Amino acid sequence: MRKKAILVGCGNMAATWVRALREPALKDRVVLTGLVDLDLAAAERLRSEFDISECPAGIDLDGMLSDLRPQIVFDVAVPSARLDVVKTSLGRGCHVLSEKPMATTMEDARKIRQAASRAGRLFAVCQNRRFKEGIRRVRATIESGLLGTVNAIHCDFFVGAHFGGFRDVMQHVLLLDMAIHTFDAARFLSGQEPVAVYCHESNPSGSWYAYGSAANAIFEFTGDVIFTYRGSWSAEGANTSWDSAWRIVGPRGTLLWDGEDHFALNVVDGNDGFFRPLRQVDVPPAPDPRLANGHVSVIDDFLGAIENGREPETSGRDNIRSLAMVFSAIESAAARRRVPIDVQEAA
Ligand SMILES: NC(=O)c1ccc[n+]([C@@H]2O[C@H](COP(=O)([O-])OP(=O)(O)OC[C@H]3O[C@@H](n4cnc5c(N)ncnc54)[C@H](O)[C@@H]3O)[C@@H](O)[C@H]2O)c1
Repeated sequence: MRKKAILVGCGNMAATWVRALREPALKDRVVLTGLVDLDLAAAERLRSEFDISECPAGIDLDGMLSDLRPQIVFDVAVPSARLDVVKTSLGRGCHVLSEKPMATTMEDARKIRQAASRAGRLFAVCQNRRFKEGIRRVRATIESGLLGTVNAIHCDFFVGAHFGGFRDVMQHVLLLDMAIHTFDAARFLSGQEPVAVYCHESNPSGSWYAYGSAANAIFEFTGDVIFTYRGSWSAEGANTSWDSAWRIVGPRGTLLWDGEDHFALNVVDGNDGFFRPLRQVDVPPAPDPRLANGHVSVIDDFLGAIENGREPETSGRDNIRSLAMVFSAIESAAARRRVPIDVQEAA
C-alpha cells in the first residue's frame, strides 16, 4: 500500500519534489495527501499547477497531520522553519525528509537528531547533489584505486546567481545554502571526515547579496587528505557547474571533472622522465543508475530505508557532519583562525 505524505513549503523547489513523486520509481510507493505553506496562495498554486485537486492545501501543519495521519513529511520549507516543521512532524509520528540545509545552527541540528531518536522515526536530508551520474562516476573511479590513495581534492564554485527571495538577506548565504552540497560531496568522494578548517568569508564589492556570498576554505580531512574550496555566488562572467569544478589528486594521477559530463583522467604510465609519461583512462559509468537520479534517488533511498528498516544514506547522523563543516568554516572566518572539527561531538 502507498504511504501517505504531506509536503510542507510550496515555493520554487516544491515543483521538483512533486515531479519526482510522479516518476515510476516512486509513484506506486508514496502518495501526496496534503500541501502546507504559511502562504496559502503558494500551496494553492502548486495544487493547480500539478492538477492535484484531491490534495487539500492549508497553512496549519499540525492540524493537517492530525486530520490526515500521513506516515511521511517532505519538508521543503525555508531553512529558518526547519526545526519547527521537523519537530512537529516527528511529534506526530512521521518520518521526515527535509531539504538541505539540515538546520540553520548546529544546536538546531542536534535537537532534530534528538527529536528523531525520541520519536523512533527516520530523519534524512535531501543532499541531492550526491545522487547524480557524474559524482557517482567520480566516486567509482576513486574507489577503483586508479589514482592511488587520494591525497587532495580541490574545487571551484563560481555561479553568478540572482535569486531574489530569502537568500538575498540570508547570513552566510553561500556557505550555508550552497557550499553544504559541495562540502558533503567532498566527504562523499573522499570517504574521509573533516578534522579542521581555515576559512575566509566575504561579500565582494558589487555583490547583490546582503551577506557572505563568497568563501575560500582549506579543510584538513582524516587520511591526510586536503580539500580546498573557492566559491562565489556573486561572480559574473564564467559560471562553473552548480556541482562545482573538481581536481582530484592521488600519487598515481589526477582526475578533472567539470561537475557535468566532462572528465579527464590521466594516470602515470612509466617511471622515467622529468614529467612521467601519462595514460588517459576512461571514467567508468555510474555503478548503480538508481542512485544517480537527483531528487528521485534521494526519495527512493528514503522510502527504501523506511521499507527495509535501514538508515538512509543522507540520514541526520551522516549529514550533521557536512553541516559541521559549514559551521566550522563560518566560525573560522569570524575568528580568522584554524578551527578543529570534531565530528563525534558534532553528532
Ligand atoms: N536541493 C537543492 O538543490 C535545492 C535547491 C533550491 C532550494 N533548496 C532548498 O529548498 C528549501 C526551499 O527553497 P525554495 O527555493 O523553494 O524557497 P522558497 O522561498 O521559494 O519557498 C519556501 C516556501 O516555504 C514557505 N514557508 C516558510 N515558512 C514556512 C513554515 N513554517 N511552514 C510552511 N511553509 C513555510 C514559504 O512561504 C515559501 O513558499 C530551502 O531549504 C532551500 O535551501 C534546495
